[in-house]
Amino acid sequence: MLLATATSRWIEFIYGARSGSIRHMSRNGNEPDEIATAPLTVQGDDLSLCAHGDLLFGVKINEMKPIERTMPSISYIVARSNPGDVIGCENELPWKLRTDLKFFRSVTEGNCVIMGRKTLESLGRPLPNRINIVLSRQGGDNRDNLMWAHSPEDALFLADFYSILNARPQTIVIGGAQIYELFKELFTKIYLTEVQHKFECGDAHFRERFDLREWDLIKRNDFKASDVDQYDFTISVLERKIKYTRHRKIEDFLVKENIDIIKKDLHNFCDKFQSTPDQAETQISLPLLVA
Ligand SMILES: NC(=O)c1ccc[n+]([C@@H]2O[C@H](COP(=O)([O-])OP(=O)(O)OC[C@H]3O[C@@H](n4cnc5c(N)ncnc54)[C@H](OP(=O)(O)O)[C@@H]3O)[C@@H](O)[C@H]2O)c1
Repeated sequence: MLLATATSRWIEFIYGARSGSIRHMSRNGNEPDEIATAPLTVQGDDLSLCAHGDLLFGVKINEMKPIERTMPSISYIVARSNPGDVIGCENELPWKLRTDLKFFRSVTEGNCVIMGRKTLESLGRPLPNRINIVLSRQGGDNRDNLMWAHSPEDALFLADFYSILNARPQTIVIGGAQIYELFKELFTKIYLTEVQHKFECGDAHFRERFDLREWDLIKRNDFKASDVDQYDFTISVLERKIKYTRHRKIEDFLVKENIDIIKKDLHNFCDKFQSTPDQAETQISLPLLVA
Protein backbone atom coordinates (compact mmCIF):
# COMPACT_ATOMS: atom_id res chain seq x y z
CA MET A 1 0.00 0.00 0.00
CA LEU A 2 2.99 2.33 -0.16
CA LEU A 3 1.86 3.77 -3.46
CA ALA A 4 -1.62 4.55 -2.21
CA THR A 5 -0.21 6.12 0.95
CA ALA A 6 2.20 8.28 -0.97
CA THR A 7 -0.56 9.26 -3.37
CA SER A 8 -2.99 10.35 -0.66
CA ARG A 9 -0.29 12.40 0.96
CA TRP A 10 0.60 13.97 -2.36
CA ILE A 11 -2.99 14.98 -3.04
CA GLU A 12 -3.39 16.40 0.43
CA PHE A 13 -0.12 18.23 0.37
CA ILE A 14 -0.29 19.82 -3.03
CA TYR A 15 -3.97 20.16 -3.66
CA GLY A 16 -5.11 20.97 -0.16
CA ALA A 17 -7.87 18.39 -0.31
CA ARG A 18 -8.71 16.84 3.01
CA SER A 19 -8.84 13.05 3.06
CA GLY A 20 -12.64 13.10 3.31
CA SER A 21 -12.98 15.04 0.10
CA ILE A 22 -10.73 12.78 -1.94
CA ARG A 23 -12.87 10.40 -3.91
CA HIS A 24 -11.34 7.04 -4.59
CA MET A 25 -12.94 5.88 -7.78
CA SER A 26 -12.64 2.59 -9.45
CA ARG A 27 -14.60 1.62 -12.49
CA ASN A 28 -15.21 -1.90 -11.25
CA GLY A 29 -16.47 -0.62 -7.88
CA ASN A 30 -13.62 -2.08 -5.82
CA GLU A 31 -11.40 -0.04 -3.55
CA PRO A 32 -8.27 0.79 -5.51
CA ASP A 33 -5.22 -0.86 -4.08
CA GLU A 34 -2.60 0.42 -6.45
CA ILE A 35 -2.36 3.97 -7.70
CA ALA A 36 0.11 5.71 -9.92
CA THR A 37 0.66 9.39 -9.32
CA ALA A 38 0.97 12.18 -11.84
CA PRO A 39 0.24 15.88 -12.09
CA LEU A 40 -3.42 16.71 -12.39
CA THR A 41 -5.33 17.17 -15.59
CA VAL A 42 -8.32 19.46 -15.55
CA GLN A 43 -11.60 17.98 -16.81
CA GLY A 44 -14.53 20.32 -16.34
CA ASP A 45 -14.97 20.96 -12.63
CA ASP A 46 -12.99 17.89 -11.68
CA LEU A 47 -9.30 17.44 -11.34
CA SER A 48 -8.42 13.90 -12.14
CA LEU A 49 -5.20 12.54 -10.85
CA CYS A 50 -3.93 10.02 -13.28
CA ALA A 51 -5.97 7.24 -14.75
CA HIS A 52 -4.01 4.06 -14.25
CA GLY A 53 -5.58 0.91 -15.59
CA ASP A 54 -9.05 0.94 -14.14
CA LEU A 55 -8.30 3.35 -11.35
CA LEU A 56 -8.92 7.03 -11.05
CA PHE A 57 -8.40 9.47 -8.22
CA GLY A 58 -10.51 12.60 -8.37
CA VAL A 59 -10.80 15.79 -6.39
CA LYS A 60 -13.52 18.41 -6.95
CA ILE A 61 -11.94 21.75 -7.76
CA ASN A 62 -14.39 23.59 -5.53
CA GLU A 63 -13.38 21.40 -2.60
CA MET A 64 -9.81 22.63 -2.83
CA LYS A 65 -8.59 25.44 -0.64
CA PRO A 66 -6.64 28.25 -2.31
CA ILE A 67 -3.34 27.39 -0.73
CA GLU A 68 0.31 27.93 -1.12
CA ARG A 69 2.86 25.39 0.05
CA THR A 70 6.33 25.71 1.46
CA MET A 71 8.69 23.82 -0.80
CA PRO A 72 11.47 21.53 0.41
CA SER A 73 14.60 23.42 1.38
CA ILE A 74 17.83 23.33 -0.61
CA SER A 75 21.01 21.95 0.91
CA TYR A 76 24.52 21.77 -0.49
CA ILE A 77 27.04 19.02 -0.04
CA VAL A 78 30.57 19.99 -1.00
CA ALA A 79 34.10 18.71 -0.47
CA ARG A 80 36.86 21.26 -1.03
CA SER A 81 40.52 21.65 -0.23
CA ASN A 82 41.76 23.95 2.50
CA PRO A 83 43.71 25.90 1.42
CA GLY A 84 42.73 26.52 -2.21
CA ASP A 85 38.97 25.76 -2.33
CA VAL A 86 39.61 23.12 -5.01
CA ILE A 87 36.69 20.75 -5.66
CA GLY A 88 37.82 19.09 -8.88
CA CYS A 89 40.67 18.52 -11.25
CA GLU A 90 40.15 17.42 -14.86
CA ASN A 91 36.64 16.32 -13.97
CA GLU A 92 37.70 14.15 -11.06
CA LEU A 93 38.06 14.49 -7.32
CA PRO A 94 41.76 14.99 -6.55
CA TRP A 95 41.61 12.83 -3.37
CA LYS A 96 40.46 9.46 -2.14
CA LEU A 97 38.48 9.64 1.11
CA ARG A 98 36.34 6.59 1.66
CA THR A 99 34.90 7.89 4.95
CA ASP A 100 33.73 11.07 3.23
CA LEU A 101 32.12 9.07 0.41
CA LYS A 102 30.16 7.12 3.02
CA PHE A 103 29.08 10.39 4.60
CA PHE A 104 28.02 11.68 1.17
CA ARG A 105 25.93 8.57 0.61
CA SER A 106 24.27 8.74 4.03
CA VAL A 107 23.25 12.38 3.48
CA THR A 108 22.01 12.06 -0.08
CA GLU A 109 20.37 8.63 -0.21
CA GLY A 110 16.60 8.71 -0.67
CA ASN A 111 16.66 12.37 -1.72
CA CYS A 112 16.59 14.24 -4.99
CA VAL A 113 20.04 15.41 -5.99
CA ILE A 114 20.70 18.18 -8.49
CA MET A 115 23.99 18.17 -10.39
CA GLY A 116 25.63 19.49 -13.54
CA ARG A 117 26.22 17.42 -16.66
CA LYS A 118 29.99 17.34 -16.03
CA THR A 119 29.52 16.01 -12.52
CA LEU A 120 27.31 13.22 -13.88
CA GLU A 121 30.10 12.39 -16.32
CA SER A 122 32.66 12.34 -13.52
CA LEU A 123 30.42 10.01 -11.47
CA GLY A 124 30.06 7.75 -14.49
CA ARG A 125 26.42 6.84 -13.74
CA PRO A 126 23.38 8.18 -11.91
CA LEU A 127 23.59 7.64 -8.15
CA PRO A 128 21.46 4.69 -7.03
CA ASN A 129 18.56 5.22 -4.57
CA ARG A 130 18.35 8.88 -5.49
CA ILE A 131 16.49 10.84 -8.16
CA ASN A 132 19.32 12.36 -10.20
CA ILE A 133 18.31 15.67 -11.76
CA VAL A 134 20.99 16.76 -14.19
CA LEU A 135 21.30 20.28 -15.58
CA SER A 136 22.35 20.61 -19.18
CA ARG A 137 21.44 23.00 -21.97
CA GLN A 138 21.63 20.08 -24.42
CA GLY A 139 19.77 17.57 -22.28
CA GLY A 140 19.70 13.81 -22.69
CA ASP A 141 17.34 10.86 -22.39
CA ASN A 142 15.40 10.48 -19.17
CA ARG A 143 15.64 6.96 -17.80
CA ASP A 144 15.18 5.14 -14.51
CA ASN A 145 16.18 7.57 -11.77
CA LEU A 146 17.83 10.08 -14.13
CA MET A 147 16.04 13.22 -15.30
CA TRP A 148 17.45 16.07 -17.37
CA ALA A 149 16.60 19.71 -16.73
CA HIS A 150 17.31 22.58 -19.12
CA SER A 151 17.22 25.36 -16.56
CA PRO A 152 17.62 25.82 -12.80
CA GLU A 153 13.86 26.49 -12.58
CA ASP A 154 13.04 23.16 -14.25
CA ALA A 155 15.50 21.37 -11.98
CA LEU A 156 13.83 22.83 -8.90
CA PHE A 157 10.36 22.01 -10.19
CA LEU A 158 11.29 18.37 -10.64
CA ALA A 159 13.03 18.28 -7.28
CA ASP A 160 9.99 19.79 -5.55
CA PHE A 161 7.66 17.29 -7.21
CA TYR A 162 9.64 14.23 -6.16
CA SER A 163 10.67 15.50 -2.75
CA ILE A 164 7.06 16.22 -1.82
CA LEU A 165 5.89 12.94 -3.24
CA ASN A 166 8.36 11.12 -1.02
CA ALA A 167 8.00 13.40 2.02
CA ARG A 168 11.58 14.59 1.76
CA PRO A 169 12.13 17.95 3.43
CA GLN A 170 15.27 18.82 1.46
CA THR A 171 16.72 18.67 -2.04
CA ILE A 172 20.48 18.37 -2.21
CA VAL A 173 22.70 20.16 -4.71
CA ILE A 174 25.83 18.06 -5.24
CA GLY A 175 27.83 20.23 -7.67
CA GLY A 176 29.96 20.95 -9.54
CA ALA A 177 31.28 24.48 -9.47
CA GLN A 178 28.83 25.90 -12.05
CA ILE A 179 25.81 24.39 -10.34
CA TYR A 180 26.88 25.56 -6.86
CA GLU A 181 26.94 29.07 -8.35
CA LEU A 182 23.37 28.78 -9.64
CA PHE A 183 21.65 28.07 -6.32
CA LYS A 184 23.94 29.94 -3.95
CA GLU A 185 21.27 32.43 -2.84
CA LEU A 186 18.84 29.62 -2.05
CA PHE A 187 20.61 27.00 0.02
CA THR A 188 19.92 26.99 3.73
CA LYS A 189 22.22 24.18 4.86
CA ILE A 190 25.62 22.88 3.84
CA TYR A 191 27.44 19.63 4.54
CA LEU A 192 31.00 20.84 4.05
CA THR A 193 34.07 18.63 3.91
CA GLU A 194 37.43 20.40 4.01
CA VAL A 195 40.46 18.40 2.93
CA GLN A 196 43.63 19.61 4.66
CA HIS A 197 45.96 19.60 1.70
CA LYS A 198 47.24 22.06 -0.89
CA PHE A 199 46.62 20.79 -4.42
CA GLU A 200 48.62 22.03 -7.38
CA CYS A 201 45.96 21.00 -9.83
CA GLY A 202 42.43 22.34 -9.60
CA ASP A 203 40.12 23.69 -12.27
CA ALA A 204 36.86 23.75 -10.30
CA HIS A 205 36.41 25.64 -7.03
CA PHE A 206 33.88 26.41 -4.32
CA ARG A 207 34.86 29.71 -2.70
CA GLU A 208 31.89 30.52 -0.46
CA ARG A 209 32.75 31.73 3.04
CA PHE A 210 30.58 31.05 6.08
CA ASP A 211 30.41 33.96 8.49
CA LEU A 212 29.27 32.66 11.86
CA ARG A 213 27.20 35.81 12.34
CA GLU A 214 25.02 34.48 9.49
CA TRP A 215 25.50 30.73 9.85
CA ASP A 216 25.13 28.33 12.78
CA LEU A 217 27.75 25.61 13.04
CA ILE A 218 25.59 22.55 13.81
CA LYS A 219 28.47 20.12 14.09
CA ARG A 220 32.07 19.53 13.16
CA ASN A 221 34.10 16.31 13.13
CA ASP A 222 37.82 15.91 12.47
CA PHE A 223 39.23 12.86 10.69
CA LYS A 224 42.86 11.76 10.42
CA ALA A 225 44.47 10.31 7.29
CA SER A 226 44.37 6.50 7.35
CA ASP A 227 44.53 3.46 5.02
CA VAL A 228 41.15 4.44 3.61
CA ASP A 229 41.42 8.24 3.76
CA GLN A 230 44.31 9.83 1.90
CA TYR A 231 44.43 13.15 3.84
CA ASP A 232 43.25 14.70 7.12
CA PHE A 233 39.83 16.30 6.72
CA THR A 234 36.94 17.84 8.64
CA ILE A 235 33.21 17.59 8.07
CA SER A 236 31.08 20.55 9.19
CA VAL A 237 27.35 21.06 8.97
CA LEU A 238 26.22 24.69 8.83
CA GLU A 239 22.76 26.22 8.68
CA ARG A 240 21.71 29.73 7.76
CA LYS A 241 20.39 31.66 10.76
CA ILE A 242 17.78 33.31 8.55
CA LYS A 243 16.36 30.65 6.30
CA TYR A 244 15.18 31.27 2.81
CA THR A 245 11.84 29.58 2.07
CA ARG A 246 10.23 29.04 -1.30
CA HIS A 247 6.52 28.66 -1.90
CA ARG A 248 4.47 27.39 -4.80
CA LYS A 249 0.82 27.71 -5.56
CA ILE A 250 -1.29 24.74 -6.53
CA GLU A 251 -1.58 25.98 -10.11
CA ASP A 252 2.16 25.57 -10.57
CA PHE A 253 1.69 21.81 -10.53
CA LEU A 254 -1.35 21.60 -12.78
CA VAL A 255 -1.09 20.18 -16.24
CA LYS A 256 -3.29 22.32 -18.45
CA GLU A 257 -4.25 22.05 -22.10
CA ASN A 258 -0.86 23.09 -23.40
CA ILE A 259 1.19 20.62 -21.47
CA ASP A 260 4.73 21.80 -21.16
CA ILE A 261 7.43 19.26 -21.73
CA ILE A 262 8.80 19.06 -18.23
CA LYS A 263 5.43 18.33 -16.65
CA LYS A 264 4.45 15.90 -19.38
CA ASP A 265 7.60 13.93 -18.65
CA LEU A 266 6.54 13.49 -15.05
CA HIS A 267 3.75 11.16 -16.22
CA ASN A 268 6.35 8.74 -17.46
CA PHE A 269 8.32 8.85 -14.27
CA CYS A 270 5.69 8.94 -11.61
CA ASP A 271 6.21 5.33 -10.58
CA LYS A 272 9.98 5.30 -10.46
CA PHE A 273 10.94 7.09 -7.31
CA GLN A 274 8.15 5.51 -5.31
CA SER A 275 9.75 2.15 -5.76
CA THR A 276 12.96 3.39 -4.13
CA PRO A 277 13.63 1.15 -1.11
CA ASP A 278 13.31 2.28 2.51
CA GLN A 279 10.93 5.12 1.78
CA ALA A 280 8.06 3.94 3.95
CA GLU A 281 10.06 3.92 7.17
CA THR A 282 11.74 7.26 6.73
CA GLN A 283 8.89 9.52 5.62
CA ILE A 284 8.93 12.85 7.42
CA SER A 285 6.14 15.42 7.60
CA LEU A 286 6.77 18.55 5.61
CA PRO A 287 5.74 21.87 7.06
CA LEU A 288 2.59 23.31 5.50
CA LEU A 289 1.86 26.94 4.97
CA VAL A 290 -1.76 27.90 4.46
CA ALA A 291 -1.97 31.25 2.74
N1 LIG B 1 34.34 18.10 -4.45
C1 LIG B 1 33.04 18.12 -4.64
O1 LIG B 1 32.23 18.20 -3.69
C2 LIG B 1 32.52 18.04 -6.05
C3 LIG B 1 31.16 17.85 -6.28
C4 LIG B 1 30.73 17.81 -7.61
C5 LIG B 1 31.64 17.94 -8.64
N2 LIG B 1 32.94 18.12 -8.35
C6 LIG B 1 33.93 18.33 -9.42
O2 LIG B 1 33.55 19.53 -10.09
C7 LIG B 1 33.98 19.42 -11.45
C8 LIG B 1 32.76 19.68 -12.33
O3 LIG B 1 32.27 20.99 -12.10
P1 LIG B 1 31.99 21.97 -13.34
O4 LIG B 1 31.66 23.30 -12.77
O5 LIG B 1 33.10 21.85 -14.31
O6 LIG B 1 30.73 21.30 -14.05
P2 LIG B 1 29.23 21.01 -13.49
O7 LIG B 1 28.77 22.17 -12.65
O8 LIG B 1 29.19 19.65 -12.90
O9 LIG B 1 28.41 20.95 -14.85
C9 LIG B 1 28.47 22.02 -15.75
C10 LIG B 1 27.42 21.80 -16.81
O10 LIG B 1 26.12 22.02 -16.26
C11 LIG B 1 25.27 22.54 -17.26
N3 LIG B 1 24.79 23.86 -16.84
C12 LIG B 1 25.45 24.83 -16.16
N4 LIG B 1 24.66 25.90 -15.96
C13 LIG B 1 23.48 25.60 -16.54
C14 LIG B 1 22.25 26.31 -16.69
N5 LIG B 1 22.07 27.56 -16.17
N6 LIG B 1 21.22 25.73 -17.33
C15 LIG B 1 21.36 24.47 -17.84
N7 LIG B 1 22.51 23.75 -17.73
C16 LIG B 1 23.54 24.31 -17.09
C17 LIG B 1 26.09 22.66 -18.54
O11 LIG B 1 25.92 21.41 -19.20
P3 LIG B 1 25.97 21.32 -20.83
O12 LIG B 1 27.38 21.66 -21.19
O13 LIG B 1 25.58 19.90 -21.12
O14 LIG B 1 24.97 22.32 -21.35
C18 LIG B 1 27.50 22.77 -17.98
O15 LIG B 1 28.50 22.39 -18.90
C19 LIG B 1 34.55 18.05 -11.61
O16 LIG B 1 35.95 18.11 -11.44
C20 LIG B 1 33.95 17.27 -10.46
O17 LIG B 1 34.76 16.17 -10.07
C21 LIG B 1 33.41 18.18 -7.08
